[in-house]
Amino acid sequence: MRLGDFEVYRALLQSELGVDIKPEKTYLLESRLSPLYRKWGYPTIESMTLALRAVPDPALVHDVVQALTDNETWFFREPTKFQTLQNMVLPYLIKQRKRQKKIHMWSAGCASGQEAWSLAISASNALEGMKNWTFDILATDISNEAIEYAERAIYNQQEAQSETGITQLIKYFEQSRIGWNVKDHLKDRVSFQISNLLHQSEDFGVFDVIFCCNVIHEFTPEARAQVLDTLAYHLADDGFLFVGELDHWQSRTPLFKAMPDQPHVLIRAEGDYKFADFPKAETKVRA
Ligand SMILES: C[S@@+](CC[C@H](N)C(=O)[O-])C[C@H]1O[C@@H](n2cnc3c(N)ncnc32)[C@H](O)[C@@H]1O
Repeated sequence: MRLGDFEVYRALLQSELGVDIKPEKTYLLESRLSPLYRKWGYPTIESMTLALRAVPDPALVHDVVQALTDNETWFFREPTKFQTLQNMVLPYLIKQRKRQKKIHMWSAGCASGQEAWSLAISASNALEGMKNWTFDILATDISNEAIEYAERAIYNQQEAQSETGITQLIKYFEQSRIGWNVKDHLKDRVSFQISNLLHQSEDFGVFDVIFCCNVIHEFTPEARAQVLDTLAYHLADDGFLFVGELDHWQSRTPLFKAMPDQPHVLIRAEGDYKFADFPKAETKVRA
């Protein structure tokens, strides 16, 4: 692919998602776009690029963005974060939300849903046996295909088993002919919505916990800063923002700082936390 053509896709991803692809990834771009130009009836990638340079069909732009988006995810990805959530953050929030008896969480960039369901399992475990307590989870992603898959809530053996562990698999899924179906009592707690973090127009309200993991690491510095501002706007004064191991956020915002020994669990730099209420870190998730 010529550099000029590459720049067409780079500019498209930057304006649509905030993602910046580097020229070293040209091979990836070509392999992901090959099925697409054929599907759209173009003889070559170059001819599809020409069409994108002209007045592009929004449906083609949509397909290109979908094809070039990294949707990789799995249950309990980066498990330490879920251990911190279940054993430290949720017990802390339970102390702070005694009046509301409700925890609000957001999985921002949820891909095919595994992160949202992992949050739901962690919250169910943490709130087990606690009368009148509940939680809700909003899960959003720019990809409509990913959101459809997430809402279906059926995963094949390999997907379901990844980091879930057999105890939780049996407790929170039903096995069927087509795979492992998330049980209804979890489904009732999670809602899915298509939404672009970069051009977000809806006000989703305030969340106690936000997971935005493995989303902003490929963003331009400006897009990363913008998304961090949006997340800060939606985070409670004593809320927690979980980011992915590769999501370099430090130089992009003065709004957050990492929790001690938890470089990927962020709290507000000027937050309202009662540090004495933090339970000591445990190393294992209670199954
Ligand atoms: C690599 S996946 C990470 C999924 C999950 N958070 C995890 O850590 O496993 C990144 C997801 O971010 C989504 N994404 C990328 N840019 C986005 C944007 N501007 N707005 C919303 N979602 C976006 C992609 O569609 C993709 O599903």
